[in-house]
Amino acid sequence: MASLGVNIDHIANVREARKTTEPDPVTMALLAELGGADCITVHLREDRRHIQERDLTLLKQTVRSRLNLEMAPTKEMVYIASKILPDMVTLVPEKREEITTEGGLAISTNENELQKVVKEIQKLGIPVSLFIDPIPEQLKASKRIGAAWVELHTGKYAEASWTEKHQELAKISEATARALSLGLRVNAGHGLTYQNVEPVASIVGMEELNIGHTIISRSIAVGLKEAVKEMKDLIKNPSNNKVFSITNNY
Ligand code: PXP
Repeated sequence: MASLGVNIDHIANVREARKTTEPDPVTMALLAELGGADCITVHLREDRRHIQERDLTLLKQTVRSRLNLEMAPTKEMVYIASKILPDMVTLVPEKREEITTEGGLAISTNENELQKVVKEIQKLGIPVSLFIDPIPEQLKASKRIGAAWVELHTGKYAEASWTEKHQELAKISEATARALSLGLRVNAGHGLTYQNVEPVASIVGMEELNIGHTIISRSIAVGLKEAVKEMKDLIKNPSNNKVFSITNNY
């Protein structure tokens, strides 16, 4: 059975929308772990639009499962990884103007530079995963530059129409088998939802799925009614003096 890495960037997105202190991704990571997360995944972006360095420092101290740091292959990020020492680094391409990570790393056209970064991170004792499109060229290049893991980009599968979905799924399935035959370990993620995750989770050899947006969205759907009820009660009974802390009722 594939394990689950929960990406908590979108919790930080809500906090950063107000530049305040809630919701705190560090506290919410604990709840994700209580729910069964096998790994907590965060992307520290160059523009710091959601996760902040403060979050990383605290997550390193508090996460009890594993901490997977997604980052661009830049000097600044390698330096931060060397200070934090996460349990895994997943290298991802990054463009400032994108809403989310759009494609996989173009490893085969940037092999020497990426190999240097992979080696530097591995020297710190941190395993490296490469976020790539599920195509043979990128798998072979990932192996050549010495990564132990790849994370297969499931975005095209997620976005495909129902007539094309099986083809996109086959690409992920074939890429998984090919990666395993090359001696690579395989994770996958991006765009997976409660509706489309099962076929990907069933792929033999799939080790971990990194899922974010759909889980954070669902947490609003399953939690909003209760949150409104609590506010309504407080307004109705102001003398109730109920203390609302972040961990209340969990
Ligand atoms: N894996 C990687 C490498 C990502 O960049 C992201 C998005 O931050 C995810 C997984 C999770 O994607 P989603 O939020 O669509 O589940």
